[in-house]
Amino acid sequence: MKLAILKERHPGETRVAASPDMVKKLAAMGVDVVIETGAGQAARTPDTAFADVGATIAADPVETLASADVLFKVRRPVVEGEGATDELALIPEGALLVGFINPLADPGQFSAYAARKLTVLAMELVPRISRAQSMDALSSQANLAGYKSVLDACIYYQRAVPLMMTAAGTLAPAKVLILGAGVAGLQAIATARRLGAVVSAFDVRPAVKEQVESLGASFVEVEGAEDAETSGGYAKEMSDDYKRRQAQAIHGAIAKSDICIATAQIPGRPSPKLITAEMVAAMKPGSVIVDLAVEGGGNCELSQYDQVVDADGVTIVGFANMAARMATDASSLYARNLLNLIQPFIDKETGTLNLDFEDEVIAGACAMKQGELVHPMLTNKGEG
Ligand code: NAI
Repeated sequence: MKLAILKERHPGETRVAASPDMVKKLAAMGVDVVIETGAGQAARTPDTAFADVGATIAADPVETLASADVLFKVRRPVVEGEGATDELALIPEGALLVGFINPLADPGQFSAYAARKLTVLAMELVPRISRAQSMDALSSQANLAGYKSVLDACIYYQRAVPLMMTAAGTLAPAKVLILGAGVAGLQAIATARRLGAVVSAFDVRPAVKEQVESLGASFVEVEGAEDAETSGGYAKEMSDDYKRRQAQAIHGAIAKSDICIATAQIPGRPSPKLITAEMVAAMKPGSVIVDLAVEGGGNCELSQYDQVVDADGVTIVGFANMAARMATDASSLYARNLLNLIQPFIDKETGTLNLDFEDEVIAGACAMKQGELVHPMLTNKGEG
């Protein structure tokens, strides 16, 4: 089997869908790993780091993709009109494409894949089940984003975060509010706590209260959150009545906070607008909001995509693709997720891949099989 890894060409994408550790393991299984030159440059991984562990370095996308059976990507392939290279046109017919292809928000891409009879595993669709935790790239990237969001907040916050007792006086610890205590939110809580902040958190899923408290943060309570969780473990869109009560609770909590990290998302839908302009105005000057949900439209009304804005003394950080700002670790965790996903299906004798489409994880992640859309969330046959 020939596995191809391209340099990512989406603007701002610094990650690469490979790590030396992953390449070494695949090469040992007899897989022919071909990496485009410079693919790891932005993630501080030179060609030599891949070549030293058994990868072949290819001069360009044409050579990288020639007769490839499998293509690992971070983002979906770029197509004509998006840059100088039409990656999609170079993918051999019938190949397997694996990556963060954003299948729900970008369903238009599938007609071109169908024409090339591709099989597509979307990393966003890997089921959130215990067995698949090591393959869960949403989690690995969200963990890093949650961590980085707190560091970003500290950079823009003009004060110290921990309690500091100095000869010149005592500085009170920063109060940090986390909205959305999923993977990123929980990591943000842990990071803020390590820095010495006093942390509180809110989520529509009451099940996370215990996790929040076990990390040393307090939970902001809103009545009526009993049925906020879907069978898949995600949050649902809430009723208008609940949203009103929630807004009151957040308003009270945010006005007392110095830093707010907002991570609330609802898969396949715009991010809930939890922080209104009025709430921003109620924050103290010098406060900082980091909106991690900016790619889904943002949790704060005043966030701007990939921008840092000043709203009367409150800094609102809206960086997109936070994981790409930690490209080395993000790539290495992502590559490990990819490896864990396909490794069980590689024949160790021959180095060939035989995916089992009955397997719960492969079936869950499979958006398209040999050119046919198969995932219920994409064929509109179910919630998934
Ligand atoms: P996410 O990125 O979709 O959303 C982030 C958080 O925002 C979630 O906790 C969600 O409940 C919350 N949220 C949504 N709407 C909100 C609102 N209006 N107000 C406040 N909070 C709101 O979630 P993530 O981090 O991807 O995790 C989703 C679920 O999957 C969680 O239950 C998590 O524990 C579970 N999970 C399970 C795994 C496994 O067993 N393999 C691995 C990772 C996550």
